[in-house]
Amino acid sequence: MIRKAVIPAAGFGTRFLPLTKAQPKEMLPIVDTPTIQLVVEEAVESGITDILMVIGKSKRAIEEHFDRNFELEQELAEKGKTDLLDQIRHVSEMADIHFIWQKELNGLGDAVSYARSHVGNEPFALLLGDTILESHSGVPVTKQLMDVSEKYQGSVVALEEVPVEKVNRYGIMDGTDQGEGVYRVSDFIEKPEPDQAPSNLAFAGRYVFMPDIFDFLVQTGRGKNNEIQLTDAMRQMAQSRPMFGARIDGKRHDIGNTLDFIKTNIHYALKHPELKGPLSDYIKALVGTLP
Ligand code: UTP
Repeated sequence: MIRKAVIPAAGFGTRFLPLTKAQPKEMLPIVDTPTIQLVVEEAVESGITDILMVIGKSKRAIEEHFDRNFELEQELAEKGKTDLLDQIRHVSEMADIHFIWQKELNGLGDAVSYARSHVGNEPFALLLGDTILESHSGVPVTKQLMDVSEKYQGSVVALEEVPVEKVNRYGIMDGTDQGEGVYRVSDFIEKPEPDQAPSNLAFAGRYVFMPDIFDFLVQTGRGKNNEIQLTDAMRQMAQSRPMFGARIDGKRHDIGNTLDFIKTNIHYALKHPELKGPLSDYIKALVGTLP
């Protein structure tokens, strides 16, 4: 049973400057909820009870968001706003949340390696703090991976089908089909050209790892962008340990770039009971004015 999750959220977020100069991109709202809260909710709904967030400079708002705010709670209680009070209490009570500081931003692989002593010798889930996974079946994507990991006894990476002409934007899996959307992974290729891509299955920002990923991270030198790349450690691991890919029943929303952030907000706002009506009227009127 996997109990622990790690959420890296220390990155610079250069694709979102100047906003990210002093604010974490992981706190960007999806309608009215910070992205990282939705990530935590996915973990909790998957059965996770203990979460370690890897944070860095300019990320204090994340700590504060998951801490209690007694003054605000008192204010809401006095005004009888019990729905809001329950909502904000829930945020700080969802799970046992811990923080660790990534001292130098040396890449995602480096961020994950900070979790070693907290995770110990157990399998764990890894959820990128700037990526939302919308489940289509109702089973949270992290839980989908946990089920595959239990059945196949190995590490599992979430994969999303992407259009072939767009494979050069993603990390792509090479592997053999085991049926039921599960693949035995032999390799990963970063941003291949469409005619060289072994598949159109791309990393989707969710993983379940056996604890020996930490041994592979220690051996991983600096790679692309002079950073310690999680993908490089995973490639090594896949050569000597069972590693699987699971085609997710869901959709990835990466809020780390401006266009996808805006699209994700429109997507969720069009599902929001109070916003969907007025927003669709606005979009319909806008479409009429487009060239
Ligand atoms: P990204 O690949 O989006 O990198 O990280 P980034 O540095 O945050 O953003 P850009 O490319 O400069 O715009 C994916 C996740 O891993 C975390 C990020 O916070 C994000 O949630 N991360 C990345 C770390 O925790 N530490 C790092 O050194 C790099």
